[in-house]
Amino acid sequence: MSSKTVRVERDGELALIVAHNPPVNTITAEVRAGLGEVLPVIRADRSLRAVILLCEGSTFFSGADIGEFSGPPRETEYRALFNSLEALDMPVVVAMHGTVMGGGLEIALAGHYRVAVPTTRFALPEVTLGIIPGAGGTQRLPRLIGADKALDFILSAKPVSAQQAIELGFLDALIDGDLREGAMRYARQLLADHKGPRRTGEMVVDASTAGAAMFERQRAQARKLYPNRTAGLVAVDAVRKAASSGLAEGLEYETARVNECKLTAESRGAVHVFFAERDSRRVPGLPDDVQASEVRAAGVIGAGTMGGGIAVCFANAGIPVTLIDASAESLERGRAGIERTYQSMVDRGRLTDADREQRLGLIRTSLDYQALRDADVIVEAVFEDQALKQEIFRKLDAVAKPGAVLATNTSTLDINHIADATSRPADVIGMHFFSPANVMPLLEVVRTERTSAAAIKTVMALSKPLRKTPVLARVCYGFIGNRMMEGYAREAQRIVLEGATPRQVDSALEEWGMAMGILAVFDMAGVDVGVNVHKANASRYPPDPTYYQADFALVDAGRLGQKNGKGYYRYVAGNRSRFDDPEAIEILRRRARELEVPQRTHSTTEIQERCVFPLLNEGFHVLGEGIAVRAADIDVVWTSGYGFPRYRGGPMFYAETIGLKALHDGIIRYRDRFGPMHWQPAPLLVELVERGISVAEWEREQAAKRGHQ
Ligand SMILES: NC(=O)c1ccc[n+]([C@@H]2O[C@H](COP(=O)([O-])OP(=O)(O)OC[C@H]3O[C@@H](n4cnc5c(N)ncnc54)[C@H](O)[C@@H]3O)[C@@H](O)[C@H]2O)c1
Repeated sequence: MSSKTVRVERDGELALIVAHNPPVNTITAEVRAGLGEVLPVIRADRSLRAVILLCEGSTFFSGADIGEFSGPPRETEYRALFNSLEALDMPVVVAMHGTVMGGGLEIALAGHYRVAVPTTRFALPEVTLGIIPGAGGTQRLPRLIGADKALDFILSAKPVSAQQAIELGFLDALIDGDLREGAMRYARQLLADHKGPRRTGEMVVDASTAGAAMFERQRAQARKLYPNRTAGLVAVDAVRKAASSGLAEGLEYETARVNECKLTAESRGAVHVFFAERDSRRVPGLPDDVQASEVRAAGVIGAGTMGGGIAVCFANAGIPVTLIDASAESLERGRAGIERTYQSMVDRGRLTDADREQRLGLIRTSLDYQALRDADVIVEAVFEDQALKQEIFRKLDAVAKPGAVLATNTSTLDINHIADATSRPADVIGMHFFSPANVMPLLEVVRTERTSAAAIKTVMALSKPLRKTPVLARVCYGFIGNRMMEGYAREAQRIVLEGATPRQVDSALEEWGMAMGILAVFDMAGVDVGVNVHKANASRYPPDPTYYQADFALVDAGRLGQKNGKGYYRYVAGNRSRFDDPEAIEILRRRARELEVPQRTHSTTEIQERCVFPLLNEGFHVLGEGIAVRAADIDVVWTSGYGFPRYRGGPMFYAETIGLKALHDGIIRYRDRFGPMHWQPAPLLVELVERGISVAEWEREQAAKRGHQ
């Protein structure tokens, strides 16, 4: 018997339940229905003696269907299904491969025995989505491995290897070679050994792992790992329940608590970002008959910090890449940097020696532009200089094959002008990577007035093998991300001039949820980098003599950040910590005196609001001007590229969480205090507040208008 996604095969006394729901065997409604159909049939068949559950394709069940998240709760259905698997009166062997996450692992816990190929990875990542495992994970896992280890696993939310799963105690055996054959051997051995069902739900949590002190320690850990959030604490409660109740009661409790979690802002924010990332690749309004072209070979110009990282991205994707620079020395330096990158991956166990060699083999260096003749995509990453970039694009125009995408990694230059240097502006586009380019997931894809739909589609599609999260932007100074950074960092710098210490500002921002305070970020990126950009673009900025003067004061005093051991903070070689530095503070105070900035004290809330409000406000400029396609894209830029907390959903989502009117009124409050130069609500924000509509409603209106054009 079979449904489309679940079928049963027989091998003597063994039944194999085989699921096949590509691409990643998500436990969709159809899969659940399929499992629900086959279980009673297996139960009724007295000729069967053992069951094996496995999946075809790239992975065992990778997780529940997050698409159902916003619909009615499904936990009761999951619970009944998993319970009926567990209730079978013959051994149930779950055979796994791939990445077994969330609901995928929870169904495995409801089986009686678990085996996996050695490369399998397991995780319960729910707390990062603001919820707890809701299909039995909080109740069954502690029964198998103890409450303490279960909480370590649930709170870390990180994947573990099959070997670690064996050591933790929820995996029984590794299967070398063919999984299906190995699982059948394992099942037959169980029968030979007269092993019957071994139901997790009938076990009790080992009391020695579930003492009051342990739960207190885990609560402290949950607060530390997930500040401003509650899901981690709820997970502790749920595991505690497992230690004190039978399975049925514990499962009821888990259901109640997970459904409570789904209503919290932290969960709605994190789920919003999850979907926003999935959708950012899809660009509305491009003609359907235009196709992305396949990228078989790539070129990168400039073997510096960015160019080297970008070449690594291509090589990691298996795409051969030619790296060009102006001199043999620069190429050699670039190549050595790339080798260091790969070596550190090998040293950290992320890559084998053979992989490193294979990837290095895909990166060819050359001084000759003719070597780019076959490239389908060429990314320019030379110094940030308009004339130089135009010269490079003239050369590319001469050698690149027809239809090749010509991309620039510029952060601040007008890509329309770069495109003017070629005879094929439709092929020119921005690919704005973030540093380090081989690590940071964000890719801003910047279209000019004339970029073709084909070039956009090719780059959006290419971002997948490059393992980037692409967001489409239009040309403006700073594109989406850096443009929104401007006001955020302006206030942080102004506040230190007013007498707050760098640590006070950064701690306030980190407490609020930013991955790293912005002043520490500048130290990491190089304080001089920002100063150079501000010098080169001085005419763009408001006439405020204190503008970004904290950065300028430090650079004038030779403090460039981490690279020379001193910036906003002091650094010690071989230690990643930042230390307060009275010398830096004195430099900032002196500059404040010269600029006659009055000294005062600041509450944490003031620091947070003064930095975050301008960031949100700029988001409304970016959306209103059509620089971003949709608000959710802005959220993706800031959560994946700038350390904005995912649990706050990104800047635009967060603005709605606090209320557009509250944001608007907050900005007016600061305008009344500091004047209108930097404090004006964006026109779109004003419009939405006046009309009392949400961003989503406005976006629907815009889409409808476009539809009528
Ligand atoms: N560093 C960042 O964080 C970052 C982030 C995003 C974008 N960007 C942009 O990326 C680009 C490169 O930045 P970077 O930090 O890698 O700079 P970099 O100074 O590390 O590297 C620039 C490289 O370009 C090479 N180069 C200069 N002239 C050349 C020519 N005529 N032909 C070929 N190669 C030439 C240099 O030798 C050097 O290797 C800039 O446009 C920058 O704005 C930088």
